[in-house]
Amino acid sequence: MSNRLNRHGFEMDVINQMETPFYYYDLDILHMTLEEIKRQTDNYPFIVHYALKANFNPQILNEIAKYGLGADLVSGGEIKQASEHGFKPGDMTFSGVGKTDWEIRLGLERGIGFFNVESVPELDVINQLAGEAGKTARIALRVNPDIDAHTHKYITTGTADNKFGINIEILDQVIRRAQELPNIHLSGLHFHIGSQITLMRPYVMLCETINGLLDHYEQQGINFEMINVGGGLGIDYENPDEHPIPDFKQYFDTFKNHLKLRPDQHLHFELGRAIVGGCGSLISRVVYVKENRNKKFVILDAGMTDLIRPALYQANHVVQNLTSSGQDTATYDVVGPVCESSDVFAHDCLLPATRRGDVIAIRSAGAYGESMASNYNMRPHPKSTFISR
Ligand code: LLP
Repeated sequence: MSNRLNRHGFEMDVINQMETPFYYYDLDILHMTLEEIKRQTDNYPFIVHYALKANFNPQILNEIAKYGLGADLVSGGEIKQASEHGFKPGDMTFSGVGKTDWEIRLGLERGIGFFNVESVPELDVINQLAGEAGKTARIALRVNPDIDAHTHKYITTGTADNKFGINIEILDQVIRRAQELPNIHLSGLHFHIGSQITLMRPYVMLCETINGLLDHYEQQGINFEMINVGGGLGIDYENPDEHPIPDFKQYFDTFKNHLKLRPDQHLHFELGRAIVGGCGSLISRVVYVKENRNKKFVILDAGMTDLIRPALYQANHVVQNLTSSGQDTATYDVVGPVCESSDVFAHDCLLPATRRGDVIAIRSAGAYGESMASNYNMRPHPKSTFISR
């Protein structure tokens, strides 16, 4: 591998040979991330699952599975994909509000670790299908703790208005029901309060809620083998070079310091973005630079079909010109070619004077980038390349 790294750490020889657009994954960053997770969780009863929805590229999965992480899955397709790329069924959790019968059967057949159950009707169906399969389903009940994670409204999941989880008011009742069902083994409680959470306060509140629930159920003689606090740890979208990986110490310390786990109780996590977000960039070429009355536009060969986050969540991803680093600068709207006004990667973005053919990196796109790509406008799925030094 060549050493022609540019100032942001990109392998320019590799990039210049590739047809754009494509996802560029820096496996060194991924490995650093996984090492750090290992360091922060060693010697604690913590089990980290990787949420496949963030990125299910086979090569990324192979790398993550090597570190012994479990998998958090939300569809039959993801159960199959995780099984094919190194994850063990017993280390899988299956989440989601709308699990269909074939997906539940698949999970039972494969012997997945836990079903995260979101409602009473789902509990009844899992019980019935487990009975038919001659199995016992191990489950965690997903509780809606009504905590506002202060993130974008489309990625907040833990407030009472969301479709997710079981409201605390009816939890006693649902637990009793789960205990009565013959083919269900109630292992624990599951929570997930949202995504791209950068403040620790919502997690402290989550710990306090869980502590209250553990005390309450202990008094009733109910002990849980495991607690699952979901995922959601955010990444620094604004400073990808300075902070390619999140502050895992602060995150895991929050649970070490605030959650009163019982002896022999395991704490499960389901992290997606924090694991893969920083290692991926979308690489694109400038097709045209054009000027309208009030604005200059950089038009890329990548669009919202390759990375929908800016269009869907008004998300900010740093845009860098990898070809030109000149002193001359200009302000551009950086847009894609798709026939939608929302196909914009960045508004009023200060870049070096940019020309047709320049290579552009859209940073921090490892999570919910490639996995949310679509074929709208009959555009092909973006390709990918992997760098490791
Ligand atoms: N567990 C459950 C039950 C989830 O619903 C999610 C994400 C995760 C774990 C992983 O969350 P993470 O650690 O990645 O924040 N497409 C959006 C994010 C949607 C997240 C959905 N659920 C985005 O691009 O920001």
